[in-house]
Amino acid sequence: MEKRIPLIIDTDPGVDDAFCLLLANSSDRVEIRAITAVAGNVSLHYTLENARRLAGMMGLTETRVAAGAEKPLIVPQETAEMAHGKNGMGGLELPETDKEVDPLPAWDVIYEECKKAGGEMQVAAVGPLTNIAIALLKYPELKGLIKHLTIMGGAQTAGNHSPYGEFNIWADPHAAEIVFQAGIPMTMIDLDACHMSYLTDEEYDAFVGMRNRYSECFFDFMAKRDGERRKRMAGTPYAGKYGPCDAVTIAALLDEDLFTYECLPVSVETHGPCMGRTVVDYRNRAGKTPNCRVVKSADRQKFVDLFYKMAEVYAK
Ligand code: BDR
Repeated sequence: MEKRIPLIIDTDPGVDDAFCLLLANSSDRVEIRAITAVAGNVSLHYTLENARRLAGMMGLTETRVAAGAEKPLIVPQETAEMAHGKNGMGGLELPETDKEVDPLPAWDVIYEECKKAGGEMQVAAVGPLTNIAIALLKYPELKGLIKHLTIMGGAQTAGNHSPYGEFNIWADPHAAEIVFQAGIPMTMIDLDACHMSYLTDEEYDAFVGMRNRYSECFFDFMAKRDGERRKRMAGTPYAGKYGPCDAVTIAALLDEDLFTYECLPVSVETHGPCMGRTVVDYRNRAGKTPNCRVVKSADRQKFVDLFYKMAEVYAK
């Protein structure tokens, strides 16, 4: 069997973060070495507890779970309870666990694990980029130790939190700019990419119908909750489609052919009305070195297949 890719998931669970973790754990291509929590969708109190419980629920005994930043670097904190509920899981109480939180903070765990992996570590960052920025500032050599960073964040067209701002980037634009300019090989799975890669409502229902060990403690609750989203989206271009952004991001890491990409210069607006905008210089007007792979197109079926495969893996 091929050697598994060592992986750190930096996350702010978050409903779609939970889908992301479950999807990653269902794959034999990766080994989750650490789950590092950051404040984002909800406060760190909840994101850390959700990360800990999800790790416990999935039996990840060897995976380190660590607490990261409670606040963005500079801007005031804003969370997204309206999308994820007060506890980040839409009100779902995840099963209790005796899984312990690592004594070291997220940035130290990220550095230690990357060092251990000897340049082979991949990092998926699906929340605000505060932890990654702090890790890079504290350990300048870290950038040479990350093989690839896959980010859920940004938008090529419209934002979801402000006209141009996608939530993760908008929530900590200064951290995002530090990370984008760090010189790490990286891929941006932005909102537009997430809108190209989704399950139809029928496919989602079929997935939920495939019973597995997490049906009762997770998927059934989320499917029931999805009714509200369907009502909210009716009549919009997003009707009939479920694209959990963070799960799409891990899917991109698991299947290199899910998207096609172009490497382009990307920077982040850190102030003003466009704060949080990911500026993609398609024609390289600023003459900068391309720093990030940007999604061009998707083969949506590959995302659907990964979801169905997850149900099969967990059914055993
Ligand atoms: C992103 O923000 C959060 O609401 C989701 O968890 C996802 O990471 C989408 O903008």
